[in-house]
Amino acid sequence: MYILAIETSCDDTCGAVLHNDRILSNIISSQINLHSVYGGVVPDIAKRAHQQRLPAIVTLALKRSGKTLKDINLIAATRGPGLGIALSIGFNFAKDLAKTNHIPFVAVNHVEGHLLSVFLKNKNGLPRFTSSFPILGLTVSGGHTKIVLIKAIGNYQVVGETLDDAAGEALDKSAKLLGLGYPGGPVIERIATAGQTDFLKLPRPLQPRRILNFSFSGLKTSFYYQIKDWSATKIASCLSDLSATFQASVFEHLIRKFSLSIDKYHPASLLASGGVLANLTLRRQLRKFAKTKSLPIFFPPQKKLNTDNAAMIALVAFYRFQKDKSINDSKLDINPRLELFQEIQ
Ligand code: KG4
Ligand code: ZN
Repeated sequence: MYILAIETSCDDTCGAVLHNDRILSNIISSQINLHSVYGGVVPDIAKRAHQQRLPAIVTLALKRSGKTLKDINLIAATRGPGLGIALSIGFNFAKDLAKTNHIPFVAVNHVEGHLLSVFLKNKNGLPRFTSSFPILGLTVSGGHTKIVLIKAIGNYQVVGETLDDAAGEALDKSAKLLGLGYPGGPVIERIATAGQTDFLKLPRPLQPRRILNFSFSGLKTSFYYQIKDWSATKIASCLSDLSATFQASVFEHLIRKFSLSIDKYHPASLLASGGVLANLTLRRQLRKFAKTKSLPIFFPPQKKLNTDNAAMIALVAFYRFQKDKSINDSKLDINPRLELFQEIQ
């Protein structure tokens, strides 16, 4: 079957067409240049840009896939979580398109999209692998940080999540503090490669082993207080060490809680996804770590499938349709605070 999906939960306008779980087209129009001058996403600007760009993105996604609306069997869009006014642009556009063309509509949870993005395949059906359940998934972006026990596709248990900032948000905020611009994660990654990871002493959040949640606000505050009286010249001269130290603390916290969750839930395999997993240092550390646990670990198969995209939304819709051929979510509305467990069927 052919699935057309739209994703507008934050600052990327995305459209994709899949043939089952194979990506035929995956268009992402980033709004970074519109928001970076403000140091973060401005909801009104995001909304307007989605409105202006979405029709052309959908047309391009169809064109690149070699398909037309007549070939499409299912239309999907992100329902939440995300920025309300950004979500509603894509969601309502998709719903209208589905209604006008008498195509079933599927409302998708963005976090489920990130989790399952590791199963996406290219046009030729690659990569081919078999993953055994239960899978423990770590999904880390600018909006969420969660450890999820995936008992089967569609059956999720959130076993740990952040109590305050998301890990990507913490990286973005510390980058802003260092004057590195937005989004900070990729800049920090680049600058950190030449730095020492123990330049400052940062706290280890939520130490007790029984706690599987994350907290990044203490890390960020400690970082802020240690450098707040430094001159711009001093900060500039230590940028790599500061970036490397902050990044290393965030990654250590992620891996420690992932490790404790593995010990508690005994998964058969692991996956890691979300914007922050575009970071090659984190991927390397997770690969090494998975080896120590003798578990296979899967990542999204292309770099651009880590950050927001509509291919992952189409894939969730495909799996949902496989389970329920009469699915139609056309009566639903967006939910900016949508929880993952609401997707359990
Ligand atoms: O998944 P995503 O595109 O959007 C959300 O759902 O939030 O993730 C965006 C987040 C931002 O915080 C960004 O700084 C972070 O992912 N990010 C990275 C890298 N690329 C994007 N963080 C670390 N290293 C990267 N290379
Ligand atoms: Zn995302």
